Amino acid sequence: MDPTNKPKGPSPHYSLYQRQVFHHGGTAGQLPTFSVHPEELEDSAKKKLTDRGYLYASSNAGMGWTDRANREAFYRWKIVPRMLIDTNTRDLTTNIFGHKIPAPIMFAPIGINKLYTPLGELVPAKIAGELGLPYCLSTAGSQPIEAVARANDEGASSHNESNKVWSYHGPNGREAKSPRFYQLYMGHDDEITLSLLHRAWKSGFDVLMLTTDTWQLGWRPTDISIANYTFYYKGTPGNEIGESDPVFMKKYGDELKKEKGKWIDSHVWHGKAHTWDKVKWLIQKWKEISGGRPFVLKGIQSVDDAIKAHEVGCDGIVVTNHAGRQVDGAVGSLDVLPDIAKAVRDKMTIIFDSGIRTGADVFKALALGAHVVEVGRLYVWGMAHEGESGCRHVMKSLLADLDILMTVAGYPVLRDVDPSALKFNPHGIPPARGEHAKL
Ligand code: GLV
Repeated sequence: MDPTNKPKGPSPHYSLYQRQVFHHGGTAGQLPTFSVHPEELEDSAKKKLTDRGYLYASSNAGMGWTDRANREAFYRWKIVPRMLIDTNTRDLTTNIFGHKIPAPIMFAPIGINKLYTPLGELVPAKIAGELGLPYCLSTAGSQPIEAVARANDEGASSHNESNKVWSYHGPNGREAKSPRFYQLYMGHDDEITLSLLHRAWKSGFDVLMLTTDTWQLGWRPTDISIANYTFYYKGTPGNEIGESDPVFMKKYGDELKKEKGKWIDSHVWHGKAHTWDKVKWLIQKWKEISGGRPFVLKGIQSVDDAIKAHEVGCDGIVVTNHAGRQVDGAVGSLDVLPDIAKAVRDKMTIIFDSGIRTGADVFKALALGAHVVEVGRLYVWGMAHEGESGCRHVMKSLLADLDILMTVAGYPVLRDVDPSALKFNPHGIPPARGEHAKL
């Protein structure tokens, strides 16, 4: 590939990463230390992790059929390549809630990152900052909100002229150097909820996302098999956001000393469902605190729920089945996307999540109506390998994959990609896991 072929459009030339990898190998004998083929990546990450780390990230509800349904849904949609299109000026940029971002990809909220790398959430937050992609922190995270914000800014500040990929301008003059969202697991003590919202807002997280599919973890037999709930074990991570919360500590600090699960049991995965009225309350509080910044509902899989989310005042939804980890035997997330998009896409932002592994997956989700996609397990496996550099390699590889797909498939502008770029094949299922290696 011609290295002088610099980007002409507004996007970074992510495809050059392919040449960089080949060139480092060919000229300096520096080979990547792991494969980014999604299945090989997971297999090699497994060897790097403890059983607790590997099983927690890989576990699914029940038989894992929803996880598989997510992948099958991607398999059934096929891309129709177009030839002799001028793709020399490509545009992968998009806008999400006033943030101009270089590619339609964000870092999904994932809990307890210290299971995968010692610095936990600081690692993906920093890499997201470097790449200018939105980072979403989970309430089940293992680093204080404030520390994650600093790492995210540090990543964004680390650009110099030679590696600069994007410069970020936040809305309303907010301090944050890179867009960041906060995913709330909401307990039933409103003072603690409000304390979390204030902390998130003060730390520059300016989009609030409420998860509605996980009042309690789904039944995940592989985690059950080793009683895999880090929050109850001595000396293991999981309480950091609670321990750094002044309101939680004032009210429950003494109890936390005696009962390590107090934070998770009372405020995160308490098993007591909320309903739509509470969502209205939360939207009102968030809007007051943030001066009207967006509120997003996560876990939507039905058209009726998407419409209801709009009616109660949500600015966006995340179409996700929690990556197959909650309801086994559920519909694939991509399967429900077209109808949801038909119903609400012109009124709300749609973030797609569940099963994204490749550039082609990103392309398909956008073609079927998503504005932006979330990537989760991929970056977990990356940081399980080599912390920052592993996370960076996986995400830069995904961006290169998407950019190259656009040029070879003949689609210069991603946000104009629509269902006509795809053909549906109702038959066929993807090879079983591991089968690709035998093909
Ligand atoms: C948390 O979000 C989980 O799926 O374990």
